Amino acid sequence: MIKLEQILAGCLIFFSACTNKGDMKSKEDQFVEELMAKMTLEEKIGQMNQYTSHWEMTGPAPKNASSQKRLEEIKAGGVGSMLNVVGAKATYEAQKLAVENSRLGIPLIFAYDVIHGYKTMAPIPLAEACAWDPEISRISSQLAAREASAAGLHWTFAPMMDVGRDARWGRVMEGCGEDPYLASVLSVARVKGFQGENLSKENTIAACAKHFAAYAFAEAGRDYNTVDIGTYTLHNIALPPFKAVADAGVSTFMNAFNIINGTPATASPYLQREILKGKWNFEGYVISDWGSIEEIVSHGAAEDLKHAAELAVKAGSDMDMESSAYLPYLKELVEEGKVDEALIDDAARRILKLKYRLGLFDDPYKYSNEEREKEIIYSKESREQAREVARHSMVLLKNNDQLLPLSKDIKSIALIGPLANDKNSPLGSWRAQTVKNSAVSLLEGIQNAVGSTSKINFAKGCDLALGERNFLDELVYAEADVQEMAKAVAAAKKSDIVILALGEDCFQSGEGRSQTDIRLKGVQMDLYNKIRKLNKKIVVVLMNGRPIAIPEIAESADAILETWFAGSEAGNAIADVLFGDFNPSGKLTTSFPYATGQCPIYYNHMNTGRPNNTGNVFWSHYTDAPNEALYPFGYGLSYTSFEYGQANVDKQTYKMNEAIQLKVKVKNTGKFTGEEVVQVYIQDPAASYARPVKELKAFQKISFKPGEEKEIEFSLDQSDLGYYSPDGEFLFETGTYHLYVGTNSRYVQKLSVKFID
Ligand code: BGC
Repeated sequence: MIKLEQILAGCLIFFSACTNKGDMKSKEDQFVEELMAKMTLEEKIGQMNQYTSHWEMTGPAPKNASSQKRLEEIKAGGVGSMLNVVGAKATYEAQKLAVENSRLGIPLIFAYDVIHGYKTMAPIPLAEACAWDPEISRISSQLAAREASAAGLHWTFAPMMDVGRDARWGRVMEGCGEDPYLASVLSVARVKGFQGENLSKENTIAACAKHFAAYAFAEAGRDYNTVDIGTYTLHNIALPPFKAVADAGVSTFMNAFNIINGTPATASPYLQREILKGKWNFEGYVISDWGSIEEIVSHGAAEDLKHAAELAVKAGSDMDMESSAYLPYLKELVEEGKVDEALIDDAARRILKLKYRLGLFDDPYKYSNEEREKEIIYSKESREQAREVARHSMVLLKNNDQLLPLSKDIKSIALIGPLANDKNSPLGSWRAQTVKNSAVSLLEGIQNAVGSTSKINFAKGCDLALGERNFLDELVYAEADVQEMAKAVAAAKKSDIVILALGEDCFQSGEGRSQTDIRLKGVQMDLYNKIRKLNKKIVVVLMNGRPIAIPEIAESADAILETWFAGSEAGNAIADVLFGDFNPSGKLTTSFPYATGQCPIYYNHMNTGRPNNTGNVFWSHYTDAPNEALYPFGYGLSYTSFEYGQANVDKQTYKMNEAIQLKVKVKNTGKFTGEEVVQVYIQDPAASYARPVKELKAFQKISFKPGEEKEIEFSLDQSDLGYYSPDGEFLFETGTYHLYVGTNSRYVQKLSVKFID
């Protein structure tokens, strides 16, 4: 029983924590206000300016005019932040320029795209999300923060929480997939991983929620393209992950390149002032995306750069990344009475507060410590963590006759494919300071796992890029491919089993890497078909940064393991899974289509007015491909099997303020210990605004020993069951709700309940 003293002690701790927090805040306010009182308008505007480094900070001063000008501006207090200055030494030198030369000595804040690691690469974010495990996401971001902070950095431009429904868009690799709820949970975990409990600790860095907002809805998946979604989709799909991290205390936001409703996001007061800083009460600052203030002109929404600066600052963009729009024009705009000086004060105040929280006014150099840098970066501990995250990220898509896990005693293995000995692609796009070709390749990983027990017959088979299609859609072979393919066939013939590593080059996905065709490139399918004909057991290992269309492989391969770009320890982590040292537990967070033409494809779609096959053509469908995904959202196998019991709820009818208690028994019916992600979806079948056919609202990842059964409980209330109107008003309505419980978004059992007034 809990005793009164314990409760009182708990309260005391709580109250003293509150007072401390209050004290800290008032100290911070006082410090920043005193500093602001000393600052000129130019100095405040300087804080709002961010430059990239065009030069080697540790070397001689740059000769080129623009770099020289930038150095002078740093010294004059005209720069508040820099991106792409990395390393303890370089950041130290750059900091010295600002601190020792500018009138008030205000430190710079150093930013960098630490997206899935600094030097030790964890899997790409899309992969990491497939772990469906907030703790894994937190660990991965903490690892990135530890290394980045040891390299003198204070701030990362991550996590990206754009909900991506279109595999053609190359930046799906940077996000959590197609679901706003999952993206919310995992992005909050990532922010916690980067920022920790206390930003002034030297192993934490500030995070940045990007790209605000709706950037992933670029038409036809072409990067930087127009976005034209309704406010209903904006409020229900694009915004929820951003709200979740704003509530969780993310330090900064980055706006986006796209227009939405005709207004560039960077110039949108609706997004930045009304929603973010107004409704959500966000206290941090907003940085533009690279050059996105300047691009307001290209969009056709501003006359010139000065006009763009005016629109952006009024809209709530506090810091200018590489448009050079604020430094030359904001003062003039204030003097002309076009921009209220209070807006400049507000932006500068927000920026200075983050510098205070990072402890930069106590010690501007504290992150720039070369000893720490040597000890921490690419350490054994970092690589072990990266391997752990990678194992959790892999998704077993097929496993006929329990072919996997493989025994380590197999006499001979043919390891074939353009990615089989690739030490570069597993590092993925957005690889910060990692060293090219430094990943453990699959070949190395398998060698490490089996030692000399198995003979590995390696053949590349073909290149990723060679073998183009001509205008008749016939494959045109490069001579090199013909020879490589013959070697691959020979290797397969003399081996007991074939492991075939296929997929994408690491730079096929990422920023600016959109594609109109998401099938395997080059002659990879031909290689697959040639090997398939030999009637050997084939395990396909996929490496890719987006869903790919592989219906033939799905049909005929014996086993398929999706490994994405798994980072520095890729080969070891894949071997852990292939040989059963780790039982795969990842589930897809993005639908795999049969064909590119199905994109955008996502499980949480609307029903349409004609959802059912009527036997004639007049229903919503394709005539040459199915409607549904090849592999649905939430799908992923394990080496063991799970059986779901009948799910039940505590009542049939609820009052509006009550919560549904949902229970389901799950049993491990196989031979291995394994983890299952138990998923709960909802549907409101008759609402004021049409709702999706299913929406993920809860999940739990649970470990089970062989034969073990557990009862899993969920609680769902109005915050889970409600939704946003097109005006952004949260609605929770009476009536029937369907609940779906199961192992993925397709294989579920259904229950129904009612809510009444
Ligand atoms: C990207 C951002 C990135 C920035 C800085 C832009 O092109 O859209 O996500 O943070 O560059 O590198």
